[in-house]
Order: sequence, then structure tokens, then C-alpha cells
Amino acid sequence: MMSDKQLQEKHDLNVIIVDDKEEGGRKAFELVEEAVQNGAQVLGLATGSSPVPLYNEMKNSETDYSHLISINLDEYVGLPEDHPQSYHTFMYEHLFQYKPFKKTFIPNGLGDEEEEIKRYNRVIEEYPIDLQILGIGTNAHIGFNEPGTPFLQETHMEKLTDATIEANKRYFESEEDVPKYAFSMGIKSIVSAKKIILMAYGEQKAEAISKMINGPITEEVPASILQTHDDVTIIVDKAAASKL
Ligand code: PGA
Repeated sequence: MMSDKQLQEKHDLNVIIVDDKEEGGRKAFELVEEAVQNGAQVLGLATGSSPVPLYNEMKNSETDYSHLISINLDEYVGLPEDHPQSYHTFMYEHLFQYKPFKKTFIPNGLGDEEEEIKRYNRVIEEYPIDLQILGIGTNAHIGFNEPGTPFLQETHMEKLTDATIEANKRYFESEEDVPKYAFSMGIKSIVSAKKIILMAYGEQKAEAISKMINGPITEEVPASILQTHDDVTIIVDKAAASKL
């Protein structure tokens, strides 16, 4: 659990600059393989375009994941599991249909707010995350923890910012169709993972990457909390690293 003292301790983040996201996927895959071989039981998984090359490597590998537990970061509120843009559908399409896990957990977008938050916090407590996969928003969110989310918050319902709705509308027919709320694992739970891999590609992430690595640790830059974690690997292409 994160204490005030840990919040003040700073660590260097390990940064790997790759040529493209396919190489990034291969690097991330090597780290996932190593963690699994070393006994990782619980993988924290993320959605979005950044982890897709990693999931491609996983699905094309010989590795068996059927003894592992997965816990996803978030899900849109109001979308049923079988909605084409739900994160349940995303995970099935990109990974789980090819590589079954022993158990997979994703927040239920139709769940009662209070019950769902309690349920998800119990899941995270029961299965401590060995390795957490992350993307990062252009506003430096991790999971759906938008700027201003308290670092010590656990699972909660988050109102999505205009920047996030704008970034995610490409997956929906129109901006109005993008859900306005999501259930998200909290930052406190994310940084409780033993090991973290964050991937980001493209110039639109450069500012967020720079602030995360070199800026002050502040709730206005949610990913800056990773400076307090002692085992983080950031995998970025040259464009995302261009403001470092
Ligand atoms: P992206 O999203 O990987 O699709 O860029 C990342 C995020 O918003 O966390």
C-alpha cells in the first residue's frame, strides 16, 4: 500500500526508445515473458491502441496463459459487455479469444455504481497485480484516472474529460455516442503493482511523456505518480520521446 513517504520518494524511470510500435510490442512482450517465467500470476491489462502490438505478440506466441489471472483497468459506464466498443469486446477480440486466461476481470459497465466499485476493489485485493500494462492519455491519464484524480483513490466512477472523449471518438460513430463516464481502477491500485510497463507512440503523446518523466509529481499529471514506483519501464517511439 502506498504511504505518504513512498509518495515523496523519486525513482528513475527506465525508458526504452524504439523505432515503431511493432518493436515496442516485441520489447514489452519480452518483459511480460520474463515476468511470467519468474512466476507472475496476475497481469493488469489495458485497452487502447498502444498495447495492441504487445497483444499481437502474445497471441502469436507459444506461451500458455491459462494459469494466469487478468485484471483490466477500466470499462465504459453504460455499455453492455457485448457492445462493439466495450472493453470486454476489445479484450476478447485482441487477446482472450486466442489466449484464454484462468480468470479475467473487467469492470461491469452496467453494474450498480456502489456495488461494482466494492466488487472491483475486492478483486484487486484478492489478486495483487504482479505486472501492470499501461497506455497514457494525451492529458497523461492512466486508466481513466483523469487530471485531478486523487492519487490515493481506489476504483471509482470517473467523468471523462473533453480531451479523452475527443481522443476516443474515433472508435464511435459520433462524439455523442462516446460514454461520458467510466469505471476505473484507481491510481493507488495501479502503483501497487510490482512491475509496470507503459507504452506510448506518436507525437501527440510527447507532452504527456515529458511531464510524466521530468515534471513535478502532481495529481494534475496522473502518470507522474510513476516516478514514485521502483520498477517502471516506459516504451516509446522517437515521436513520443521528442520532448524528453
Ligand atoms: P491509446 O490510449 O493507446 O489508444 O493512445 C491510451 C489511453 O488513453 O490511455
